[in-house]
Amino acid sequence: MLIDSHCHLNDRQFQRDQRQVLERARQQGVDTVVCVGYDLPSSVEVVAMAEKYENLYVVVGVHPHDAKELKEKDYQTLEKLAESPRVRAIGEMGLDYYRDLSPRKIQQEVFRRQIQLARKLKLPIVVHDRDAHGEVMTILREEKASEVGGVLHCFSGSWEMARECIDLGFYISLAGPVTYNNAKRPQEVARKVPLDWLLVETDSPYLTPEPLRGRRNEPGNVRLVAEKIAALRGISLEEFAAAASANTRRVFRF
Ligand code: NI
Repeated sequence: MLIDSHCHLNDRQFQRDQRQVLERARQQGVDTVVCVGYDLPSSVEVVAMAEKYENLYVVVGVHPHDAKELKEKDYQTLEKLAESPRVRAIGEMGLDYYRDLSPRKIQQEVFRRQIQLARKLKLPIVVHDRDAHGEVMTILREEKASEVGGVLHCFSGSWEMARECIDLGFYISLAGPVTYNNAKRPQEVARKVPLDWLLVETDSPYLTPEPLRGRRNEPGNVRLVAEKIAALRGISLEEFAAAASANTRRVFRF
């Protein structure tokens, strides 16, 4: 059985067929999904979805793209939301210096504050890092994120960075890009990360794996990502799936 450790099933693109998408995932052997919020409204949505569907766990938090919208009182709302029993982490949070949709200073501040909140609540964190590797590591260290650990989602750094993250107690999660032909770095990471520290995800509706690129992504496609990683490591899909699922259950405690 497989787990999609990071998807956005609340996205508009799933508005009409959420339930069928989850059913199709089950047919692909994906029995559990983790749905991740990226701002306050989406965090409210994923918590509501957890009441509607079984085998669905959630993460609440604010993405660096949306950091500029966050108000002081929103931290309290997030804290309240995190009391819901299916909430297993805070995120996705982090830095995105590729698209820079919020000013960098604000991204950093909102990232730090959410790590502080996660430490207070004793919940792991889900980190988004795009073109900000050095600064993400600095903030994780300065804010003592190793106290709670978590996941570096859709990991795009080098094997050396992955090593540093693992030393801080962070799992490495790989998504669709590992299936792309030119993806040398994620493929090296897929081969080298110890099996006990690897997770697999879709980040759907984004990052559709090969050979389905160009279509909407959905949680069932995590199987294609897992097959690629298993092939790169020279192990069976079953062996990889068992390890990745156990890792996901360990970090999110379910
Ligand atoms: Ni995401």
